[in-house]
Amino acid sequence: MANPQANGDGEKVAVRGLEGVIAAESSVSYVDGIHGRLLYQGYDIHDLADHTTFAEVVFLLWRGRLPTQAERDAFSAELVGEMRLPSQVLEMLKLTPPNSHPMAVLRTAISMLANFDPDAENLSPEANWRKAKRLMAQVPTIIADLHRIRNGLPVLSPDPGFGLSANFLYMLRGTPPSQLESEAMRELMVLHADHELNASTFAARVIASTLSDMHSALAGAIAALKGSLHGGANQRVMEMILDIPDPEMVQSYIAGMLENKKRIMGFGHRVYRTEDPRTPHLRKYSELLCRVRNQEHLYEISRRIERAVMDAKGIYPNVDFYSATVQHAMGIPPEYFTTVFAASRTAGWIAHIMEQYADNRLIRPTSKYTGEMGRPFVRIDQRG
Ligand code: COA
Repeated sequence: MANPQANGDGEKVAVRGLEGVIAAESSVSYVDGIHGRLLYQGYDIHDLADHTTFAEVVFLLWRGRLPTQAERDAFSAELVGEMRLPSQVLEMLKLTPPNSHPMAVLRTAISMLANFDPDAENLSPEANWRKAKRLMAQVPTIIADLHRIRNGLPVLSPDPGFGLSANFLYMLRGTPPSQLESEAMRELMVLHADHELNASTFAARVIASTLSDMHSALAGAIAALKGSLHGGANQRVMEMILDIPDPEMVQSYIAGMLENKKRIMGFGHRVYRTEDPRTPHLRKYSELLCRVRNQEHLYEISRRIERAVMDAKGIYPNVDFYSATVQHAMGIPPEYFTTVFAASRTAGWIAHIMEQYADNRLIRPTSKYTGEMGRPFVRIDQRG
């Protein structure tokens, strides 16, 4: 087949960072970076953020349609019912050194879960559906249990009275979330649930395309999300905000970073050229929660950072920016922020993995070779 990325002489041309390359067909989500639109299975993110539960969005992403009330309630109960971990995985969490990063532990735990899942190597749609539900439920439990173990607290069973997102917060902190916290956590997870062919989703699809199993694809996605240019940015955002002692110092702090050619975490996006449609939702919860927790100065610092970066570079905040103060105000430690992103994005990763399996072709691009050719071989005993 002719190479669509060749110049007039038929020479290969590499696209750095695969920017603009269409690498898959997908109906899971749609990002319009020019107009700042995001759709899940055709539904506008603003409608979903305002009106759906997280379980409802998971159902939508996996099944391609919104559930009825009865379907949603049954699905939500099923997910909450799958939140237990095998005891061996719980033991492994206790064995991890206290300073290992929660994303590293999550990556390990997903690999380990595969060894205890009776369907691990079964790629039939029925087995994948069972694994999808288990993984969707087990990821939040891994994170909550790790946090409690590291703080010397007993791990908690899910409360059947809560859905997945409220249970996540409850099992992590040990106190039932307030109405505002439940809303914030629900919306945060809905907003993070999918985002087209981002780096971690692409990683998951590449792995699934080799007909490797769902746990492997998910572990690979978590590994990709961990980086600071992707999901790892939210933790770095909070570290920056906490590093600024006074809102009055924001201007000089940001100017100093830009002068030193440092990236401002939580800003910029490969696709959006206008405001990320997820930002206003998270900004709203950041303001409300910071007020309730007497952390108004953190919201004020965030607003000023947003203005300073816009004035200096014309760059908008991305989903990670206000997610930081929202999570901080709910008492989630910064090193766990990216795991909360992972728990939410598990919904999208699984939707993409199942979509890849359903119409698979091995993803195997090519590279433009920039090395030497025809070097004379010298035997080892003759090399100087
Ligand atoms: N801070 C400062 N400058 C930034 C920036 C940021 N956060 N994001 C982009 N830029 C600048 C780059 O320096 C570059 O400027 P230049 O052309 O003068 O060199 C220009 O914008 C384009 O950046 P580039 O790295 O080519 O864009 P990209 O599409 O490859 O990168 C990101 C996208 C997300 C990796 C990038 O914006 C970034 O590093 N953001 C910070 C990390 C982050 O928040 N990640 C979460 C993403 S959801």
